[in-house]
Amino acid sequence: MQLEGKTAIVTGGASGFGAGIARVFAEHGARVMIADINADAAKETARELGDQTMAQHVDVSDGASVNAMAEAALGAFGHVDILVNNAGITHMPTPLEDVSEADFDRVLNVNVKSVYLTARTLVPHMKSRGSGAILNVASTAGLSPRPNLNWYNASKGWMITATKTMAVELAPKGIRVNAICPVAGETPLLKRFMGEDTPEMRAKFLSTIPLGRFSTPQDMGNAAAFLCSDAASMITGTAMEVDGGRCI
Ligand SMILES: NC(=O)c1ccc[n+]([C@@H]2O[C@H](COP(=O)([O-])OP(=O)(O)OC[C@H]3O[C@@H](n4cnc5c(N)ncnc54)[C@H](O)[C@@H]3O)[C@@H](O)[C@H]2O)c1
Repeated sequence: MQLEGKTAIVTGGASGFGAGIARVFAEHGARVMIADINADAAKETARELGDQTMAQHVDVSDGASVNAMAEAALGAFGHVDILVNNAGITHMPTPLEDVSEADFDRVLNVNVKSVYLTARTLVPHMKSRGSGAILNVASTAGLSPRPNLNWYNASKGWMITATKTMAVELAPKGIRVNAICPVAGETPLLKRFMGEDTPEMRAKFLSTIPLGRFSTPQDMGNAAAFLCSDAASMITGTAMEVDGGRCI
């Protein structure tokens, strides 16, 4: 029970990695807000995971919506120990010059601006308590990018730099900031990274992962629970690959 007594917000917690992180957090004793733009899916996930979890609608790219999420969490829990910036989207695999301005803005607003918006809202609360753990779900795409996902890759590279600068600035305030960098995982988003979900395309992706399998929501939950727990109290500013060796 690494997270007994802790409270957490997991954005994008209704699906995929976010749902896996919420599940493992709850298993380790945390109370968890599953915050997602898909309110029905968030409610369904919270129902599945049980009484320690609650659902909240949020659009992480919208400041007012992020403020409402934080207020709801503080109202329900009294305080927030852990923030997981997990919600993320991609454009389809496309030559970089052909990605539309609308898609570029969408990806940057959800993957990048959200980190600023949640920090603006919750860091003052964590500073006032002298403690907190923030986890950004980045990607191997930010470390070892593949072609045709350029603006998505760059959004994750930004997230890794933000993690390090947040960590160094917030360390004196008792707040740790880390990132995980998942390799391609079995979630609804996988098809969008691959462009098409065919056995050939799966084999191509798998051939780049030395451990020979896609990552899972459970893998991300395990890594997130460790990094957000007191067992990782000396770890900040890391961008930990959870990638089966893909970035070696
Ligand atoms: N699946 C992979 O292969 C992979 C690999 C590396 C990194 N990642 C990253 O992991 C994170 C989770 O991805 P996933 O694969 O679980 O995807 P997913 O599509 O299964 O889940 C993403 C969740 O985010 C929610 N969401 C989308 N836009 C939102 C918004 N504006 N506000 C609030 N919630 C929003 C969605 O409704 C969904 O529930 C993302 O940041 C993604 O970039 C995924």
